[in-house]
Amino acid sequence: MKRTKVIDALKSTEYGAEICVKGWVRSKRGSKGIFFIALNDGSTIKNIQIVGDESNFPEETVKRITTGACLSVVGKLVESPAAGQASEVQATTIEILGDCDNTYPLQKKGASWEFLRTVAHLRPRTNTFGAILRIRHNMAMAIHTYFHEHGYFYFHTPLITASDCEGAGNMFQVTTKNLYDLKKDENGKIIYDDDFFGEQTSLTVSGQLEGELGATALGAIYTFGPTFRAENSNTPRHLAEFWMIEPEVAFLDQEELMDLEEDFIKYCVRWALENCKDDLEFLNKMIDKTLIERLEGVLKEDFVRLPYTEGINILQEAIKNGKKFEFPCNWGDDLASEHERYLVEEHFKKPVIMTDYPTAIKSFYMKQNQATADGGSIGYRGCVAPGPTMQGTDVLFPSIGEIIGGSVREESYDKLMAEIERRGMDMTHLWWYLDTRKYGSCPHAGFGLGFERLILFVTGMQNIRDVIPFPRTPKNAEF
Ligand code: 4AD
Ligand code: MG
Repeated sequence: MKRTKVIDALKSTEYGAEICVKGWVRSKRGSKGIFFIALNDGSTIKNIQIVGDESNFPEETVKRITTGACLSVVGKLVESPAAGQASEVQATTIEILGDCDNTYPLQKKGASWEFLRTVAHLRPRTNTFGAILRIRHNMAMAIHTYFHEHGYFYFHTPLITASDCEGAGNMFQVTTKNLYDLKKDENGKIIYDDDFFGEQTSLTVSGQLEGELGATALGAIYTFGPTFRAENSNTPRHLAEFWMIEPEVAFLDQEELMDLEEDFIKYCVRWALENCKDDLEFLNKMIDKTLIERLEGVLKEDFVRLPYTEGINILQEAIKNGKKFEFPCNWGDDLASEHERYLVEEHFKKPVIMTDYPTAIKSFYMKQNQATADGGSIGYRGCVAPGPTMQGTDVLFPSIGEIIGGSVREESYDKLMAEIERRGMDMTHLWWYLDTRKYGSCPHAGFGLGFERLILFVTGMQNIRDVIPFPRTPKNAEF
């Protein structure tokens, strides 16, 4: 008999019809010889209730219906007398597809997040992780749909690379060599000529540089793939392996880049509200009572567009008025998350797109703002900064901090080279990148959205380890 998914069985009004549902037992209770099973197959947060008369089944079968067991149930779909569910199944036959004994770790409700991480192979079967993973899927669909509808091409950039996009050196090496038996030159420097790729290679930290090649040919592209960072950051916002979405667009200026960042995030949030109703309502009830309100709030607000220099002024003013921060925030400092959160959560109370960061704290490829005679610069909406700045535009979100990192790219070959030389960067492996500025260079811009940070925001979860099925963090690559 053909299986009906629980999501469809719950919607069906063909009462009296015989159906077959399959899934895992969430709970079983009994009273006066009647048993009630909550069965879930992952298609929806909702369980379907299976009702059976114990006397109609072998005692052995009834005993084997335990929490976690996998069942195939055939029975009659009937209108449910119980509140909160439209239909249930009156079981006629129950087949145990997979037994589950009492060592099953998900017996009890209310297990801690920490405990659930130790059983990451099973936690997708809990209500919360089921909801998160369905939302995660939906966000991926929203992203592809957004870009497809807006004429962007999905562009596949390599995961194995010989270049370091962000120049931060936080890369995992890729080699087939025995690390204890490496060929070295007379200065003790490793020679890679007999390694698999014949040169030093790593897992990519970003697909941006290759993405720029795509944009300067196809006009507008996006990437959506895993990226890797070997930063030893043990925080609720960092993973060693995370997914990033990186659109890159020719002929896009700073204001248009911000428009894109804002429109894109709002589209994703709206998609979640429209397509993940049941899961969001569950999370709103169980995890965070202000979740849906916060998601709806983001759609109503215009994001603030704020030059870094003005942000520093606001923070300095706050300090004058008695606000205490752990880290300094003088012009030139990289903002700590306490500063970002003050601006977003306390000062503006809405998302902020911060732009025109000091050159020293940003990457080499960003568009340089016009310099002034006294060593300062003029940037967004005429904002004057005391030092050189670049058109980096990051989106800062409540409770998340930086959700997007982006910029207008420096299209001038001479300016880009001057910055590369000033930083003493080795460009041997990036000759092809420089060619974009040599052959028909064009103004262009793009950004990277951390997929898991988006999922954090949309689900209201607090730890990035809980919005990806199998997190990779320092000292943890299990499952
Ligand atoms: O700000 P980042 O480092 O920017 C880039 O990599 C650019 N090349 C992107 C571009 O312009 N195409 O990273 C972009 C975003 C961050 O804003 C953050 O959301 C996320 O990626 N991110 C991380 N997410 C989880 N774990 C980490 N370790 C992350 N590092 C960055
Ligand atoms: Mg960044």
